[in-house]
Amino acid sequence: MNLELNGKKAIITGATRGIGRRIANLLAEEGVDLAICARDEEEVAEAAAELSKTGVKAVGKAVNVRDGDAYKAWLSEAADALGGCDIFVPNVSAGGGMDSEKNWIKNFEIDVMGTVRGCETLMPHLEQSDSASVVLISSTNALEFFAGPMAYNAMKAALINYAKQLAIFVGNKGIRVNSVCPGPVYFDGGAWEMIKGTNPKFYDKTVRAIPRGEMGTPEEIANVVAFLASPKSSVITGSNIVADAGYTKRVQY
Ligand SMILES: NC(=O)c1ccc[n+]([C@@H]2O[C@H](COP(=O)([O-])OP(=O)(O)OC[C@H]3O[C@@H](n4cnc5c(N)ncnc54)[C@H](OP(=O)(O)O)[C@@H]3O)[C@@H](O)[C@H]2O)c1
Repeated sequence: MNLELNGKKAIITGATRGIGRRIANLLAEEGVDLAICARDEEEVAEAAAELSKTGVKAVGKAVNVRDGDAYKAWLSEAADALGGCDIFVPNVSAGGGMDSEKNWIKNFEIDVMGTVRGCETLMPHLEQSDSASVVLISSTNALEFFAGPMAYNAMKAALINYAKQLAIFVGNKGIRVNSVCPGPVYFDGGAWEMIKGTNPKFYDKTVRAIPRGEMGTPEEIANVVAFLASPKSSVITGSNIVADAGYTKRVQY
């Protein structure tokens, strides 16, 4: 299937490693110009240079999504550098953790406000696109009990609601908004590699809960995001796509 992504312009946050990086890699392979950010300046420069090798324009900047002013300034700068924005993937998360008030505020500022500020700042650019798509990255932790009452789980749930509300609100401008809930995703250097080392019992229990006996890969999540970002998913908006290899056990209607 030709995803018709060639020539589109995408902004992805947190794209030096993990899922965000694989989304950037795949979109670059599909001919999408990219602007990426993360906090580590050297890693951002390396990632942008690697992505450029595919022949697309790839620009990057070290930005902490938590710093609202710097983040919004970078988003505008990124859209100007690309000459517009068709695709926005706010991928950065503050991650899990049990659980202080500090964590709740951090997860709110990074996961929720990082997404809301991004959508609001880029809205004028998305309005100019003939195939605008916003893909929010939530988690199956938003859908079922996972580990405990973490800020991460609650803030990821907020994103699913926000995606739906925004999709209806801006649908008449031709902008689609969806969310993706990855289940556990394993990659070297990722959270699950760390958990495998520090809490092997929990890791094994999690793997056993996945019918195929293997966690998802960042590439598999990138495939889903690329489809949602592409004009080929034009009929899908306001939806939450669970991409968890059967990890969650609820029936989804
Ligand atoms: N991995 C999983 O099993 C899983 C499952 C469900 C959902 N998810 C979601 O998928 C998304 C990506 O997860 P991941 O596991 O790929 O994450 P990751 O490996 O921790 O990668 C995070 C990326 O974001 C950047 N980053 C982190 N904090 C940042 C900040 N405050 N400002 C700017 N950049 C920041 C990191 O670079 P720097 O450190 O240099 O900033 C890196 O590029 C997250 O929203 C996560 O909640 C992951």
